Amino acid sequence: MTARKTQPPKAVKAKTPLAKKGAAKKVVKSKSEPSITALPLNTILLGECIELMRGLPDGCLDAVFADPPYFLQLGGELHRPDHSLVDACDDEWDKFSDFAEYDTFTYDWLKEAKRLLKPDGALWVIGSYHNIFRVGAILQNLGFWILNDIIWCKTNPMPNFRGKRFTNAHETLIWAAKSQTAKPCFNYEAMKNMNDEKQMRSDWNLPICSGHERRRDDAGEKLHPTQKPESLLYRVITSSTKVGDVILDPFFGSGTTGAVAKKLGRNFIGLERDPRYAKYAKKRIAEIPAAPQPEFLLTNAKRDEPRVPFGAVLERGLLNAGDTLFDERHRHRARVKSDATLISSIATTGEEVRGSIHKVGASVQGLPACNGWTFWCFEAEGGKLIPIDLLRQKIRAETVGPVL
Ligand SMILES: C[S@@+](CC[C@H](N)C(=O)[O-])C[C@H]1O[C@@H](n2cnc3c(N)ncnc32)[C@H](O)[C@@H]1O
Repeated sequence: MTARKTQPPKAVKAKTPLAKKGAAKKVVKSKSEPSITALPLNTILLGECIELMRGLPDGCLDAVFADPPYFLQLGGELHRPDHSLVDACDDEWDKFSDFAEYDTFTYDWLKEAKRLLKPDGALWVIGSYHNIFRVGAILQNLGFWILNDIIWCKTNPMPNFRGKRFTNAHETLIWAAKSQTAKPCFNYEAMKNMNDEKQMRSDWNLPICSGHERRRDDAGEKLHPTQKPESLLYRVITSSTKVGDVILDPFFGSGTTGAVAKKLGRNFIGLERDPRYAKYAKKRIAEIPAAPQPEFLLTNAKRDEPRVPFGAVLERGLLNAGDTLFDERHRHRARVKSDATLISSIATTGEEVRGSIHKVGASVQGLPACNGWTFWCFEAEGGKLIPIDLLRQKIRAETVGPVL
């Protein structure tokens, strides 16, 4: 297969030194992880994405978000029932002579994306039924490991004006790790928090971009036919990257990835072949205020919290030897010993049990395991039962500062 021949337009003028003409090619390839300062961060590089990617060093990216040409193969104009013309994407950049050419193009940019990702980096690609199955097969052939396919259910899809098919109301995002053994970032707690304490599912109900969010050029015309909603990128970036990470978008368009990356304190590198889109994307991102301090952007993942042993609760005098603990329904009680173990008895048999808060909690319930921190409560003023986990949180707050 041969790569599609397209002439790169002139290089973009950008503020960072490495984003100057030909700069992407100047970045030295290195086997160790490249220095982040050597990258054209928060810059849009103008040109053909595959060539520009070839100028970046191995393993320099934490994530790639790609919204590539879908190869829509539109057959003629589409009109609404009132005969007005539907502004569908019929741009040159979405045209390929056939599937073979599209597949070659897809293979080439995905191969570069894989080279650029760090070992634990991950890739997102969005597409529709026109292209996503081809993209999925090619990325699997390249050794990417699919983590999820996300269905973006459009809450306000465009109707099927011809009435010949179902309304096409969704797009698919593939989220894939660089390899099967990679450990990609997934901010589980952040997603759960954002979903009212329920696990975030793989079907995302979000509206398409409209109203104020839709970018317009200086003449007030719609800037880009396929501008993605910021809400979609917000979820992608929040779920799978960390503050300060570097995210590449090889098909930058109106700059949605850059806008949301800036808002969330991540770095972006945008690649775009159309100078007009690059110009407006740059303007759009400049209008976004700087991200707040990291404490407002970080989620305290439970596994990252400092370990607090039950003994620390006694050492700090928050509980004392001889105190009584209860379960929240007052069915079980245990006495605290000075060595941070508990003594209790099994209600049905009267058998004595001793051990850690977890072991005794499990034994009195006849369960194989128990989280003693959330099972056992102390009696506060007025007889109110409060889980001892609150005491652990108090100690953590003293150690690492309050959780905002
Ligand atoms: C589907 S749009 C991306 C829209 C973008 N996600 C947004 O929210 O505005 C694809 C973009 O990639 C650009 N593009 C297409 N082929 C390209 C290539 N080979 N190199 C660089 N940019 C390309 C197009 O000009 C277009 O702006």
